[in-house]
Amino acid sequence: MRILSLRLIGALIIGVTLVSIASSWYEVQSQKDSLHSDLERKAEILGESLARTAELYLETGNRPGLEQMVRRFSNRDHLLGMGVYGRDGSALVVTPGLSPVLPGTSQPLRDAILNDHSQGKFTRLGFKGVYVSSVPLYAANREVTGGIIVVHDTGYIRSEIFRIWSRVFIHIAIQMLVISAITILIVRWSLTGPIARVAQWMRELRTGLHAVRPGANDLDFLWRLAPEVAPLAESMRRARAAAETEARLRNANESEWTAQRLADHVRNRLDGSSLFVVSNREPYVHTWRDNAIDVSVPASGLVAAIEPILCACNGTWVAHGSGDADAETVDSHDRLQVPPEDPRYSLRRVWLSAEEEEGYYYGFANEGLWPLCHIAHTRPIFRASDWEHYYNVNQKFAETLVEEMAGEAHPVVLIQDYHFALLPRMVKDRLPHARIAIFWHIPWPNPESFEICPWQRELLDGLLGADLIGFHVRAHCINFLNTVDRVLEARVDWEHFSVKRNDHQSSVLPFPISVEFSGETPDIPGGIDAAEERSALIRELGIEAVFIGVGVDRVDYTKGIIERFQAVESFLERYPSYQGKFTFIQLGAPTRSRIKRYADFQAEVEAEANRINARFKRGKWRPIVFQFRQHNRQEVQRYYRIAHLCMVTSLHDGMNLVAKEYVAARQDERGILILSRFTGAARELYDAIIVNPYDVKSTGEAIARALQMDVGEMIGRMRRMRTSVKEHNIYWWAGSLIGALCELRLEQKESAIASIPDRIPVEM
Ligand code: G6P
Repeated sequence: MRILSLRLIGALIIGVTLVSIASSWYEVQSQKDSLHSDLERKAEILGESLARTAELYLETGNRPGLEQMVRRFSNRDHLLGMGVYGRDGSALVVTPGLSPVLPGTSQPLRDAILNDHSQGKFTRLGFKGVYVSSVPLYAANREVTGGIIVVHDTGYIRSEIFRIWSRVFIHIAIQMLVISAITILIVRWSLTGPIARVAQWMRELRTGLHAVRPGANDLDFLWRLAPEVAPLAESMRRARAAAETEARLRNANESEWTAQRLADHVRNRLDGSSLFVVSNREPYVHTWRDNAIDVSVPASGLVAAIEPILCACNGTWVAHGSGDADAETVDSHDRLQVPPEDPRYSLRRVWLSAEEEEGYYYGFANEGLWPLCHIAHTRPIFRASDWEHYYNVNQKFAETLVEEMAGEAHPVVLIQDYHFALLPRMVKDRLPHARIAIFWHIPWPNPESFEICPWQRELLDGLLGADLIGFHVRAHCINFLNTVDRVLEARVDWEHFSVKRNDHQSSVLPFPISVEFSGETPDIPGGIDAAEERSALIRELGIEAVFIGVGVDRVDYTKGIIERFQAVESFLERYPSYQGKFTFIQLGAPTRSRIKRYADFQAEVEAEANRINARFKRGKWRPIVFQFRQHNRQEVQRYYRIAHLCMVTSLHDGMNLVAKEYVAARQDERGILILSRFTGAARELYDAIIVNPYDVKSTGEAIARALQMDVGEMIGRMRRMRTSVKEHNIYWWAGSLIGALCELRLEQKESAIASIPDRIPVEM
């Protein structure tokens, strides 16, 4: 920075000095010209007036008068001397000291006498600069009788020029000082400051401190670096966290699953095969915002789990391109490399028309299959037109997959969810050598419930194209096998949890999905106490409360949100001392609102919260705060950390990741989880308070029990739940699923399913 300052200062000084000197030179020249012409004029006037006087003295022969005149004028300002000469150049009267240096035969005098005209000339007399002016003298008859010479010393002009130059140099010196000072200040404010702030920020990021991104004003002209630095730092942070976790686990000889371990594991298992993931939601959505393209990651645990695998094996993710700027960001094959900040795998987008999306996604998947599989007493709607779209969209994805897998010797395909029940068969028929798994993220109901679907045979047959069909829990596997047993001609092997149909075998196994469990949550500022943060949040919400309960859900009729509010109502009725103290905050994300049942349900939830609030509220206290909007990960984490209790009261849920997220967020080992027995999570988190959400009164009792629980018991429960989630995190889930898929044809399946028990009765 010092060299930059010196260079800047040097360049500015040289430039300014050259300009100053050039402009001063012009000023000096014009000043010099004006002094010269002044002198010429003065000398001519003086010479003329002296000549007239001298002519009089000469005419009258008044020699003393002439001498006196010469003496009198010889000591005037800048006048060096004067002399009166005859026509032949003989000196008549000359001031002392002038005759040796200026003889009467001097050129100006001769010119004046000969030309009968006044003459003037700047010249030098020895070392002296002078101006010599000569004026002819006339007799009465107008004959030239001689001449007069007046000599001015021009030294004062030189002094004046010298003075001007001195002034110029003083100005230049002052300018140099001012320029240096201003340059140093500018460098410090505009360069050193922002650079120092960026350096400090990068240092904090590098050293893993809690780094706050400087604002645009602080970064000044370096603000364009910010969007580049942040992802770089995020990649570094992840790499560092992964390395630290690996090192910690190695040291502790633990076997916790990490992104790195998953990547290594899957790379080994795939043994050079390519992995293709299919899901309806894409991992990166491009949308237009303020005339610029914005990229976002949908809030889903799936991206966290699948991405490390795809990055490790350079795979392909095929998904519906739903963002309004998606088409602008793909190449001519509808592909792009992601993650955007560090491209490692390919995202292939599939385009759907509005009618296709309506029929396949909103219609068949979400108005048909969703309520069919969730026993939540919302009647499924099956329309033939929706089924047609569902079929065609599955076909479209199959075409795309086949295209992407062209030339692959051993492709491995991982299909996600109920949007693609037909896809396994469609792909298997075209590419029998592909290993295909489908993971069904929602429950599988009992056969009697499933039977109402007019296309149950087609759905089951489609699914059985897969080599591996995964559910969250064993009960859903059993329900599925029972359904197949009842509907299709197939051999169900209850011992090995598999189905053989037309010589193709499908394994049906449980893989309970989970969340990322990092020891530390990087986006949480350190040193903040839960109680302090709780008070801050309560203030921000503009309410008064002492105890906080939280619920986090998409506002979906399967989540039991209304039952949860009624449980709060029942609790406040039975425990009035908590009125004015306990507030339940429901974060509700809008979802599928174009479906009438969802729009109605969202209004019902709002109305129920209002009813209960109207009944109990007093002053600033309210029993329920319902926030109907999307909350980002950091916001949700904050609520998890401050809540005394978290309520997950789904009427039916495949797993429910909110329950596990709450546990993972509680690094302080505090907080109570109230969990519906109809969630998959209830089969793992035994230390939650398990409730039947339909039983509003006992769910209300669970709230009282949670708030009154002894701290020791609370810590013990949370600690055990945390151990369970830590050991069975999202990486463990993905590793087990892909590991099992890769093993299927390599080994006898018995090894993969040795732990599956005998036939178990149908469950909900
Ligand atoms: C829930 C289900 C997932 C499903 C997802 C779809 O999270 O548990 O199985 O894939 O909803 O949500 P979307 O917003 O894409 O309809």
